[in-house]
Amino acid sequence: MVSNSEKSKIARLREQAGLTQAELADYIGVSENTIANWEKGNASKWIRNLNRLCSALSCDLKDLDPDHEAETVANSPTPEPLGEIILETVRSYCEAVQSGDKKAAAKIASFAALHNPELRYWLDQARNMIIQFQRERPNQPYCETIVNGLTLRNLIMQLGSNPPNDISYERFCHLVAQVHLSAAFLEKYVSFSREDFRRRLILQTWHLTVYVIGWQPGQIVPMHHHGNSLDAIRVIKGEMTHWQLSPEECEAQKIPFEGCTSQEKYSGPSKIYRTGDLITIDRRHAHQIANRSRQELVTLHFRFGAPPDDDHWDQPSADSQLVFVWNQEEQCQMKMPS
Ligand SMILES: [Fe+2]
Repeated sequence: MVSNSEKSKIARLREQAGLTQAELADYIGVSENTIANWEKGNASKWIRNLNRLCSALSCDLKDLDPDHEAETVANSPTPEPLGEIILETVRSYCEAVQSGDKKAAAKIASFAALHNPELRYWLDQARNMIIQFQRERPNQPYCETIVNGLTLRNLIMQLGSNPPNDISYERFCHLVAQVHLSAAFLEKYVSFSREDFRRRLILQTWHLTVYVIGWQPGQIVPMHHHGNSLDAIRVIKGEMTHWQLSPEECEAQKIPFEGCTSQEKYSGPSKIYRTGDLITIDRRHAHQIANRSRQELVTLHFRFGAPPDDDHWDQPSADSQLVFVWNQEEQCQMKMPS
């Protein structure tokens, strides 16, 4: 016979997870009756035996699972970029959780648990972010934040933790070209100023800075280089005029490092880039950006190496955007503006 507290423990944990008996049964692949029996206390003898076994063998419960080794490998960061199908499934999961459709969410989760370790990994990441988001910003929609946040997390994983100089320019270009952040997500990071262009931070790690710049017509950043950092720019809205110089031209013309720019504008040949275009800048190359159109220009920037200079940054506002950061365990966390 088991005590009331033992009887109710599984039920209490299940309720904390927001699952019905049927959903939990579906999730772990047993019948609803089995869950009901466990909650009545019929699992207690079995649990006690497992505890004794672990104690006798000085191991954890997970060590007894023959699939644990395979699962651990599957749960480690995937070497391949987060695929479109997985991302869309994660989006469906987030939408189901957000709308309170527990059945649909449990269906996706149980499919992942049983058949698709890669999806399971990304759902786990999504769940962590949802919990943090709900704690910090209850009752606010979060699907766009989670899906775009995971897209960025994937980029971090693909870039790896090696020194930035170990990543080739070609690899950087290949990875950044696959990053597509939604307009609904990016619009929260757009700001303008009549005085000069404005930057807003989306993500900051040791080596990668992702940010948005808003340019009013006529605004320009003079020719500069980023030293050994790599740079990529995607035009989100409008028309960007762009100049680029080789390292040799950069040296011959004594182009300054970013942040030390003179007010002198470069007037050589330029190229026009429009919405959706991606431009990449290799190490030690120089470039100049201007909005010579009559419309506002919005650009998304990926800086890999040393972070950009300290000028033109807008502080996050309380009800606008989040900043993504990575903790010691390489987990994505959202920094909430206070
Ligand atoms: Fe630049």
